[in-house]
Amino acid sequence: MKILVVGGGGREHTLVWKISQSPLVKEIYCAPGNPGIASLARCVPIDAGDIKGLTALARQERMDLTVVGPEVPLVEGLGDLLAAEGLPVFGPQKAAAALEGSKIFTKDLMRRLQVPTAVYETFADFDAALAYARGQKYPLVVKAEGLAAGKGVIITADFAEAEAALRSIMLDKVFGSAGNRVVVEEFLKWEEASMLAFTDGETVVPMISSQDHKAVYDGDQGPNTGGMGAYAPAPVLTADLLQEAMERVMEPVVHGLRDMGIPYRGVLYAGLMLMEEGPKVLEFNVRFGDPETQAVLPLMQTDMVPVMQEVARGSLKGLTLDWYAGSCACVVMASGGYPGSYPKGLPITGLEAAGALEQVSVFHAGTALQEGDIVTAGGRVLGVTARGDDLQDALKRAYRAVDLIHFPDAHFRRDIGQKALK
Ligand code: AMP
Ligand code: GLY
Repeated sequence: MKILVVGGGGREHTLVWKISQSPLVKEIYCAPGNPGIASLARCVPIDAGDIKGLTALARQERMDLTVVGPEVPLVEGLGDLLAAEGLPVFGPQKAAAALEGSKIFTKDLMRRLQVPTAVYETFADFDAALAYARGQKYPLVVKAEGLAAGKGVIITADFAEAEAALRSIMLDKVFGSAGNRVVVEEFLKWEEASMLAFTDGETVVPMISSQDHKAVYDGDQGPNTGGMGAYAPAPVLTADLLQEAMERVMEPVVHGLRDMGIPYRGVLYAGLMLMEEGPKVLEFNVRFGDPETQAVLPLMQTDMVPVMQEVARGSLKGLTLDWYAGSCACVVMASGGYPGSYPKGLPITGLEAAGALEQVSVFHAGTALQEGDIVTAGGRVLGVTARGDDLQDALKRAYRAVDLIHFPDAHFRRDIGQKALK
């Protein structure tokens, strides 16, 4: 088979790595890819947002499957363009990708299907939103409706902060048209976990649970990032809770969409707050999580390629996934300054020594090749990942690898996975 993976971050490096282990695969392309991916796939310089260019590539090269990593091309309709050409695609079409592309669509769907989620109201009018915010309990969560590169959620401590957030989103349009409408919702505070599942629009097959670390500093301090590390499985999401989330969240949403004539084919990610009364949905993503993927896929024993083919064909029924025992941990090494501004082009050393450690994989997220050397090129630079007999063992191996890698002003959290060990 010939497979195209769309994207060029740590998640996509992990997808390519897993796909490359399948005996069914002859050739992997990745657009645009990165220097880590280039050792496993042919990288083509087409941006992940260029849905026409990607479709042309898939057509020309007669891809047997296109696997879409990031949300933007899905929300913009890459799945629809590929399907219209009869090209198999792993990733939902535009109508289903609204689960991530429109927070209002999603909240209203959950309300109708009685899927547990934070109490909320939606607004297109600034004054109405402000009046609502005035009467609420704090903290209060203000969310831009559309895609905002993970920055569209603002947790406000009091009315003044809520007003400022609404003003910047709805009037100053800091997220552009993504802020034409907002969701204002109740703040939920409990432990968060991520649930990923394969679905063909009918059958839902869950993967093992995982947990991200969104804040930039140890102890969950500082601003939110795309994710500073992850581990799997996450013991907080017990087998019982996973089952409850399947029955109360994943299946109702997938079947609710089906009943609207919208087949969801791809991976569905639910960000869950595990409340005393059961799991509540914080958000859906229509793709693999980053960095959750780095922690989950190394534990998957099953060949993922036939699974993705069954998803694309709509024939997932009866499929089961096998997992390795033990745990996996991913520590993200980021550029100093991230999630604010940071320098680029700094040389990275120690990659080979770290990657040679047993059960360790160093996934590239924001790297570039400069005169033959690997340099930093993004906020999140590397996802240093290790499998172990248990979480403690996985963390020990991952941090041993981190200690071998150097670039100026590198920042990483030292407490990845600690919550699960307490
Ligand atoms: P989202 O962009 O919707 O994924 O939200 C990003 C992050 O904001 C989530 O992973 C949570 O950590 C936090 N968050 C979102 N909604 C809420 C909420 N209602 N209560 C508390 N935290 C939230
Ligand atoms: N790790 C959070 C996300 O992928 O959205």
